[in-house]
Amino acid sequence: MTAPILRQLADLRARHAEWIRAGETVAVVPTMGALHAGHLSLVEAAQAACDRVIVTIFVNPRQFNNPEDLANYPRTEHEDAEKLADYRVDVIYVPDPDQIYPEGYATNVSVSGLTEVMEGEFRPGHFDGVATVCAKLFLQTGAHKAYFGQKDYQQLMLVRRMARDLDIPIEVIGCPTVREASGLAMSSRNLRLSEEALTRAATLHRQMQAMVAGLKAGEDIVALEQTARAALDAAGFGEVEYLDLRDAVTLERLARPTRPARLLAAAWMDGIRLIDNIDVPAV
Ligand code: PAJ
Repeated sequence: MTAPILRQLADLRARHAEWIRAGETVAVVPTMGALHAGHLSLVEAAQAACDRVIVTIFVNPRQFNNPEDLANYPRTEHEDAEKLADYRVDVIYVPDPDQIYPEGYATNVSVSGLTEVMEGEFRPGHFDGVATVCAKLFLQTGAHKAYFGQKDYQQLMLVRRMARDLDIPIEVIGCPTVREASGLAMSSRNLRLSEEALTRAATLHRQMQAMVAGLKAGEDIVALEQTARAALDAAGFGEVEYLDLRDAVTLERLARPTRPARLLAAAWMDGIRLIDNIDVPAV
């Protein structure tokens, strides 16, 4: 059954009040729409853990550092609602823009440290936009649990930090990255790549796996990174913005995985920016 689409905060709050009166638990899955199996895996995790599930769809202008990227971002509300009909979703919250940023809106939520590297370095202002909208969505939905993908690993870490720092009573849960058969991480931006480019794009994940295998075998990160970058170049990637080994929680740079770590990357393919990350066990 298709869940109702609510566009006004007051309507969302009315539903929420009924659920809380009935002693029910509430989950939120924040998205920007153009839903794919990655998003739907979060919905599945949410419905397995909570009585009520809110999926939010809001293409948040504040987190786009590039106006062209915002203009080209896919908007597929009708198809999204149809996909969600296969799940136990109670409300699809598609806030009218003034429900998030009313006239005169002036508050910014900014998380320091974690946000200064990688995505933060290459997409100035992006994480302030993410932290601000997630703080608002957490407060508006009053959810007990929020579901995020590890696909956007740095985002997951910063949202968790923000909720803790601001005493927002919500548990931020990270779910595994859903991939194409080729290994390519699913992303709404993949829709803008040709079939042929998608095949080449899968090189990113393969090279990251090769780097992790090398790290496990005690090989040197600098040499591993050079080999991976050469292979990405050969596959037709443009700039590789970063390909970093970092602490799994603090995101501090590591030369060797002496503690639980993460390998994270951003690289351009045919004008589309792709990101990925994988777990690196401590050796
Ligand atoms: P969006 O890119 O639509 O992603 C919504 C959620 O889906 C995020 O938590 C993201 O990590 C997760 N996701 C995307 N691709 C995934 C994949 N292949 N496997 C698993 N999970 C995946 O991330 C955002 O929107 C926005 O920044 C948002 C948090 C909604 C704030 O505006």
